[in-house]
Amino acid sequence: MTIAETGAPPRAADPRVLAEAGRRRAFAVISHPDAGKSTLTEALALHASAITQAGAVHGKAGRRGVTSDWMAMERARGISITSAALRFDYGDMVLNLLDTPGHADFSEDTYRVLSAVDCAIMLLDSAKGLEPQTLKLFDVCRSRGVPVITFVNKWDRPGREPLELLDEIEQRIGLHPAPVNWPVGVAGDFRGLIERATGEYVTFERTPGGAGRALETVLDPAAAQARDGAAYAAAEEELALLDEVYGTAVDMETFLGGVTSPVLFGAALPNFGVRRLLDAVTTYAPAPSPRDDVKGEPRPVGAPFSGLVFKVQANMDPAHRDRMAFVRVCSGRFERGMVLTHAATGRPFATKYAQSMFGQDRETVEEAFPGDVIGLVNATALRPGDTLYAGEAPVEFPPIPSFAPEHFAVVRGKDAGKAKQFRRGIEQLDTEGVIQVLSSDLRGDQAPVLAAVGPLQFDVVLHRLEHEFGSRAELDHLDYSMARRTDADGARALAGQRSVEVLTRRDDGALLALLSDKWRLAQVQREHPDILLEPLIAG
Ligand code: G4P
Repeated sequence: MTIAETGAPPRAADPRVLAEAGRRRAFAVISHPDAGKSTLTEALALHASAITQAGAVHGKAGRRGVTSDWMAMERARGISITSAALRFDYGDMVLNLLDTPGHADFSEDTYRVLSAVDCAIMLLDSAKGLEPQTLKLFDVCRSRGVPVITFVNKWDRPGREPLELLDEIEQRIGLHPAPVNWPVGVAGDFRGLIERATGEYVTFERTPGGAGRALETVLDPAAAQARDGAAYAAAEEELALLDEVYGTAVDMETFLGGVTSPVLFGAALPNFGVRRLLDAVTTYAPAPSPRDDVKGEPRPVGAPFSGLVFKVQANMDPAHRDRMAFVRVCSGRFERGMVLTHAATGRPFATKYAQSMFGQDRETVEEAFPGDVIGLVNATALRPGDTLYAGEAPVEFPPIPSFAPEHFAVVRGKDAGKAKQFRRGIEQLDTEGVIQVLSSDLRGDQAPVLAAVGPLQFDVVLHRLEHEFGSRAELDHLDYSMARRTDADGARALAGQRSVEVLTRRDDGALLALLSDKWRLAQVQREHPDILLEPLIAG
């Protein structure tokens, strides 16, 4: 809205909000399972002194520390199904690390988390380089305009040549690598890191079990030569080559434009090179910036409070059957107790029970600024993608695009006496965005169709139906592998056709045509050239 439209001059932004936003960084780690994301998360938090001993955040099976026990399934599988948001101070900065789910399935959760960050760390296993999940996640970052810092992990183990890894990044994803530091000693015989900008050589000494900060020593070139002779000389030769091929410094403009990626080497488990990675996050990752609203107008960081719900999670605390919405602060200052407006319904939303998260520990949050994540308890009305705002002027951010489902199954309650629990559970999981729920008059309420991006979503639904809602359920997998958006005419034309079924998506009423495969789709398109069969947007 312009001044002419409102008749009032714009209010000056609160300088404190701008200062606080300027020292915040919201980022996520993207990686293939087993590349070391949990280990790195712990190491980052450890370096930032948020926890005293590695292992306190995720409590992965077998690790020491506080275990997360709200979801037994998570523990049993040793995977993280939920997203935790960690907030920690690092020097003058406040870092918010949003956790992307670590399992092999690609789920919509991951996409939503990447909608709420300003930067991502692409974590690679030095022996494996780019893996399928890394590539998928990188594509999401690229489509969302999220700049990427690369960390090559596990350098303490035998792996590939560093130059070969840089080449792979450049060739396969077209990202121009800008090495920030360079390893001395081949993977598996890690001696230390040379800082390219200064030539400083940092060596590391292991602490027992890796649980603790690695001892770092800075050596001058003469001392480095004396200590690591041939390995140091080889690294120096490679450095000369790097200057020619990759230039000498990270160019901020091309980094923010998604063209280049600063690359750092290290090993999360023994804590080598992790402090340097934190410095890179604070140096390169951008501070929160204006976010476009649905009309394409940027909402300034200093405008009154606005936030984006990027995740909704129920029953995190078995003692209190609650429902927590995670909100990324986009503009303004959040203060606990504020009454906000829920843009989707226009209804007020009270924030008496706002919390910040640290792993499984919660603490009440009194205030928050752009780049922070707050957890709102009792958030029954909120859904991923929703906007909350303060003040008179409404704002709504564009919905987070949802992925096209590829797996479909009918779900039925096993106990006839628990129909109510079953319906309540399905409704809740739909609202949380755990899975998409489709229905039709033909199938009825007792046997809706679930649509998932990855099959693990089905397991989560069955587990939660049983353990949280007291309704055991079973699945009947359907022979469809794709969905297309259609309309009432399309539904009429497709009624009764073989290997096609039109269902209504519960959350937005969209009509989806499910088809067995792309050949059937092509055939239907040939036979009915006039009907709407629109791909669902994937990004
Ligand atoms: P993820 O969250 O990405 O799935 O990976 P996670 O951190 O669980 O790491 C996967 C395995 O890789 C773990 O071993 C972990 O200890 C190991 N790892 C991570 N970073 C490094 C590193 O820098 N160097 C070495 N040598 N290993 C690393 P695990 O045996 O599967 O599990 P655990 O029993 O150690 O937890």
